[in-house]
Amino acid sequence: MPNSPLILSGKEVSLAVKAELKGRIEALAGKGIKPGLTAVLVGEDPASQVYVRSKERQSAKLGFNSNVLRLDASTSQDELLKIVEGLNKDPEVHGILVQLPLPRHIDDQLIIETIDPEKDVDGFHPVSVGKLVLGLDGFVSCTPAGILEIMKHYNIETEGKHVVVVGRSNIVGKPMANLMIQKRDLANATVTLVHTRTPDMGVHTRQADILIAAAGVPEFIGDDMVKDGAVVIDVGINRVDDATREKGYRLTGDVNYEAVLGKVSAITPVPGGVGPMTIAMLLSNTVKSAENSIK
Ligand code: GUN
Repeated sequence: MPNSPLILSGKEVSLAVKAELKGRIEALAGKGIKPGLTAVLVGEDPASQVYVRSKERQSAKLGFNSNVLRLDASTSQDELLKIVEGLNKDPEVHGILVQLPLPRHIDDQLIIETIDPEKDVDGFHPVSVGKLVLGLDGFVSCTPAGILEIMKHYNIETEGKHVVVVGRSNIVGKPMANLMIQKRDLANATVTLVHTRTPDMGVHTRQADILIAAAGVPEFIGDDMVKDGAVVIDVGINRVDDATREKGYRLTGDVNYEAVLGKVSAITPVPGGVGPMTIAMLLSNTVKSAENSIK
């Protein structure tokens, strides 16, 4: 039984991704192009505010033309559609990101489908999702793309492995499963996707060579659900009450990290695992879009 698992530091990998982007951003600057990313935040959801601030800060740090449109929660669907249409036409904007979730009176899917697929740096538009499923080049949803980068960086073999994905969200579970079945490097896996309607999930997760937890439930995956020597990728970022912490809460993943640590061969921590990769891949997608704009 492995007793010293490899800690997969997304923080470290994200720094490597951003370092690689710097050269490409300089090359674009030589052609008079500055990658432009505009985030749209509707309302005041605290977690969304934190994410958007971080995206703004990091893109500005890389020298992007970085903007955030902070809109009142009462913004109508029509107003938001017009704003997105305006961004579609703006040549200085290469990436458009509408932070989800949107207020209940706005149809998320309608907004996503209004974003020009050429600027869909979140990879949520049906065109992007379709390309991903078909194995065509396009924008890949940032969290799954970040997980692939972590696996690449740490030479985690996926070919012929059994990957079990927990969760079927459009943002993580579905694209992740589809990426892992592709006929190419960093894929070629046998994939099982389990979800809330799967009876006895542990039967499946215990077979995973690589277990990707994106259930959105704190510490859902315990040691009884993990095979000895498995690689565990924890996508969860959950706030749980903790009176011993200054802030009154701590961040925890979808995996009970302490419980599985003695059992796994490699694991992503929370924080510092998958989280930093999501923004790194958003920046990467925006640079790609800026490059595409001059092709
Ligand atoms: N809400 C939670 N994650 C994401 C994300 O990656 N992009 C957007 N736009 N909204 C989110």
